[in-house]
Amino acid sequence: MTSSSDGFTTLVVSAVERDTDDSVIVSFDDDLPFAHGQHLTVRREFDGIEVRRSYSICSAAPDGRLRVAIKHVDGGVFSTWATEQLRPGDLLDVLPPAGHFTHSLETSSTRTYTLLAAGSGITPIFSIAATVLAVEPRALVSLYYLNRTSQSTMLLDELQDLRDRHLGRLSIAYAFTREESGGALLSGRPDRTQLDRLIEAGFLPADSDHAFLCGPLELIADAERALVAAGLPAAAVHREIFTTNQPGRVSLAPQAVTETSVTVATGRATLHGRVTQFDLYEGDSVLDAVQRVRPDAPFSCRSGVCSTCQAVMRDGGVEMAVNYGLSDDEVARGYVLTCQSHPTTPTIDVDYDA
Ligand SMILES: Cc1cc2nc3c(=O)[nH]c(=O)nc-3n(C[C@H](O)[C@H](O)[C@H](O)COP(=O)(O)OP(=O)(O)OC[C@H]3O[C@@H](n4cnc5c(N)ncnc54)[C@H](O)[C@@H]3O)c2cc1C
Ligand code: FES
Repeated sequence: MTSSSDGFTTLVVSAVERDTDDSVIVSFDDDLPFAHGQHLTVRREFDGIEVRRSYSICSAAPDGRLRVAIKHVDGGVFSTWATEQLRPGDLLDVLPPAGHFTHSLETSSTRTYTLLAAGSGITPIFSIAATVLAVEPRALVSLYYLNRTSQSTMLLDELQDLRDRHLGRLSIAYAFTREESGGALLSGRPDRTQLDRLIEAGFLPADSDHAFLCGPLELIADAERALVAAGLPAAAVHREIFTTNQPGRVSLAPQAVTETSVTVATGRATLHGRVTQFDLYEGDSVLDAVQRVRPDAPFSCRSGVCSTCQAVMRDGGVEMAVNYGLSDDEVARGYVLTCQSHPTTPTIDVDYDA
């Protein structure tokens, strides 16, 4: 394992195992500390263009075993390469594990958990389930897991194994959009009405202490609304969205500054213990402006989803175009997604180390 000054660490891939026809599990020789539900940002150059993607760690946090599972996306740059060409012994640059899709564990708790995963959204959910079952010996976990077909269901054997190891503490409802196996309630893509029925039938309990939901934006938003309407406190719902508007294989560099660029604000960024001044030009996000003077600024999706670019506003104001990565509580504490933030005051001060 080697680390570079821009915050990336180079890991050695120890194994690439086929999980389903279109997904692989990638394990690393090296360990990095992580919490259940967190993800790694990986980067790789394709034809000279840097691509960054997030992949959730799919191991129990107490194991410390670092691994991710990657599903092929049609036309996708990184996932196509990873599922077809990545081999043991290859090197991958990663940022330290990050993300807020996690919570504080309590060994003596008798808490109950509602988990919802769709497709590759199982990766952090698996980590959360395995960690909770290992660290909270009296906790109960209900998982609703939606896939196209049983063939395309990721981590299937591992989930069965987890259920066998924690008999009576993990219940799993497998649902399929293109297969009829568990009756009408577990078939088809669930709309709001079906989500209400799943709650009533106990497949998605709304009386749990925590709900962790991971999958496409629309499904997660519907499920959150349904659970809250059925009585689950909004603060108990944790969401992770995998769908991004990342633009594929295009340059991640900020816009070039020319003679006609108009300065709209100035800023100060604290990053890796060092303070740097920067100018913001019309059209810049805060990340664009910081990246111009600090190439080590952290980011991945650039579309307000992964929260890799988060920082705390120490002074001044910004407006976020979209925010799928931060909770209301984090926003109230001053966190912003710098890739989505545009200044509303002439000077701003952001702290990436907070
Ligand atoms: C926090 C987080 C955790 C995640 N964890 C996982 C995980 O554990 N496992 C997993 O498999 N995935 C995960 N993802 C998704 C992952 O980061 C990638 O988005 C996914 O693998 C697709 O990346 P790609 O490079 O293959 O596809 P991309 O190249 O980004 O393409 C995505 C889609 O956009 C289309 N597209 C590509 N280029 C363009 C373009 N120029 N214009 C228009 N459309 C275009 C493609 O056809 C494709 O359909 C996670 C995402 C987030 C945000
Ligand atoms: S880079 Fe993903 S939210 Fe900003």
